[in-house]
Amino acid sequence: MAGYIVEDTKKITTQKVIQMKKDGKKIAMLTSYDYTMAQIVDQAGMDIILVGDSASNVMAGNLTTLPITIDQMIYHARCVARGVKRAMVVCDMPFGTYQVNRDEGVRNAIRMMAETGVDGLKLEGGEEVIDTVRGIINAGIPVMGHLGMTPQSVYKFGGYGVRAKEEEEAAKLMKDAKLLEQAGCFSIVLEKIPATLTQEVCKSVSVPVIGIGAGSADGQVLVIQDMLGMNDSFKPKFVRRYAQLQTVMNDAIGQYITEVKNGDFPTEAYSY
Ligand code: KIV
Repeated sequence: MAGYIVEDTKKITTQKVIQMKKDGKKIAMLTSYDYTMAQIVDQAGMDIILVGDSASNVMAGNLTTLPITIDQMIYHARCVARGVKRAMVVCDMPFGTYQVNRDEGVRNAIRMMAETGVDGLKLEGGEEVIDTVRGIINAGIPVMGHLGMTPQSVYKFGGYGVRAKEEEEAAKLMKDAKLLEQAGCFSIVLEKIPATLTQEVCKSVSVPVIGIGAGSADGQVLVIQDMLGMNDSFKPKFVRRYAQLQTVMNDAIGQYITEVKNGDFPTEAYSY
């Protein structure tokens, strides 16, 4: 089956993404971490592909995003960039690569851009990292912000619960979104916050807001393994499963094992 009907087959740029918000067109974004998956996602007509540091969870099996290294993110990002022709590819800056100071953040951002072939970077936080965000953008690198439940701060938050439910945190998030917009971010991800707050942010910033567990926004992002149903045991409220791949894969692999063991595969048709 063909993917979404793509009217414009030219490369998606930051300018196009910003224009989509102006035109009232929703932005579709999904993660990928390898060449094969990225190729499929791109050919389906995705606007933005995120090489998320969720690779730490879904590719490496870690409990958090904290252990993934810059070298590992560069590896994943390179694999994805090789498979993509049209979508904008954004890569997460991993934990510890931009929080220490502006110079270190800018240096790591430049390295990630130079060694991967992606089109932009995403980093978590508002006021705390705003100098670094400015420095990276001044270096000519498009930056996507990320506010709300920022997984690299899971130990500070004490878990993965919904953020900014209280007025004080919601006011800080609004202020941070404005700061990121003023710093020149081309878009902002909002993760796991109340839908009403997402709506307020969407109205108050001119750049696209991409939601995950944040209700309706200018666009939406999900982790591809979650929306394809590749892990039956992980089903948070905000994930809609568009396939049940764990079942499909279990059945296919089970059938293969059976056929190899009973001699039904390979037959003559698969032999030279
Ligand atoms: O790493 C990731 O996959 C992300 C998305 C959940 C936004 O940051």
